[in-house]
Amino acid sequence: MTNCSEKTILHDNVTVGENGTLRFAGVDTAAMAKKYGTPLYLMDADLIRTRVALYQNEMKAAFGGESRPLFAGKAFCTKAIYRIMAECGMSVDLVSPGELFTARSAGFPMERAFFHGNNKTDADIATALDSGVGCFVSDSREELLALDRIAGERGVCQKILLRVTPGIDPHTFAAVTTGKVDSKFGSPIATGAALDLTKLALSLPHINLVGFHCHIGSQIFDVLPFVDAADVMLRFTAAVRDATGFVAGVLNLGGGFGVRYTESDPEFDYAAAIHTLAAAVKRDAEALGLPLPTVLMEPGRSIVADAGMTLYTVGTVKEIPGFRTYVSVDGGMPDNPRYALYRSVYTVVNATHADRAPDRAVTVAGRCCESGDLIAEGARVATPERGDLVAVLVTGAYNYSMASNYNRIPRPPVVFLSKGKDALAVRRESYEDLVRNDL
Ligand code: LLP
Repeated sequence: MTNCSEKTILHDNVTVGENGTLRFAGVDTAAMAKKYGTPLYLMDADLIRTRVALYQNEMKAAFGGESRPLFAGKAFCTKAIYRIMAECGMSVDLVSPGELFTARSAGFPMERAFFHGNNKTDADIATALDSGVGCFVSDSREELLALDRIAGERGVCQKILLRVTPGIDPHTFAAVTTGKVDSKFGSPIATGAALDLTKLALSLPHINLVGFHCHIGSQIFDVLPFVDAADVMLRFTAAVRDATGFVAGVLNLGGGFGVRYTESDPEFDYAAAIHTLAAAVKRDAEALGLPLPTVLMEPGRSIVADAGMTLYTVGTVKEIPGFRTYVSVDGGMPDNPRYALYRSVYTVVNATHADRAPDRAVTVAGRCCESGDLIAEGARVATPERGDLVAVLVTGAYNYSMASNYNRIPRPPVVFLSKGKDALAVRRESYEDLVRNDL
């Protein structure tokens, strides 16, 4: 919905309207704030579909066969997104019975779901089996034994991938690094544990091992760690073949491509990265005498992050001479805990005066009773005053899905935007919702 002559801010879907207010996905943010109130999450559904198509088309072109992306629902989990994924023919990665329930409630076909988790309970396993989940991503000896037993009780043989750790450190921030040997996820290849678990899986009658999974981390702008991971995984596949005769047909390389949160983040060419990875996989498979596997990837952030924006209303503007200016907004760490957790940097815009040049470095603070409740520090914005709207860009991933009710603050609504139209996808929580389970 954007026109090429319009001024954009950070991403093409963020523009400035003639009246000076910020527009997102071709829609006036002031009009959205008026209609739905603030804080408010906006999601650009057209961009989500574009990204899904990019991953689907490029993976098909680069790897061929059944290779495809799965959307990692942990990045943004609502019924509305699973409806989009169902329509687009996507597969999804689910990490809990709650995500599974959400996808199921949206009518998502469970045979296209992959069920993750490093600590699935017996009840989780039973729920996933009874829902007809297509594939488990199994993580441990305990899980394999429990799955075999529970699948056996149902007379089924469950398809699985085994999650292993390739020992790759992508040098992203520690909390989101998962592929190192020292990880709560998967089993290390380097220690021999991954081969032992493979042999166990192959010996269990109610388990059908079809391949291996790894995930090295998140917010990664370099394809090389993925190439290295693929290389380790294929060499492991060959070692398994040599030791057992089993040739894995599926290789899931996880998610993790980066997203531009600020002007200082690089532009990342997802299509080029997919093709580089495919060339490496083909070269390695050939060198090792392996058939080309079906390659799966699990993008979350890079499908939804820049498709999201959060709108707030400014309350107080407190200048502390010699220190800083606090701009307090009507949301905060309950709707976006990422600065408090990871010091994640965001681009902040005065959405009421988006035509004004940023003239002030401010700290955007939330309304929680806690000093650490900040959304951004040193954010450059056009000086805001009470009543102005502030937009925090690129909040589509790991914001709504990580939101809490800290300080009994209701979660904001989510509005999907498509072709210039808005549709409420998640209602604003009410105070009644907050006490619903209190006895
Ligand atoms: N697959 C697996 C097994 C994962 O653990 C993850 C993310 C993904 C796929 C999706 O990765 P993505 O493409 O979104 O990078 N809460 C943190 C991010 C945690 C990521 C956890 N795993 C944040 O807000 O940055």
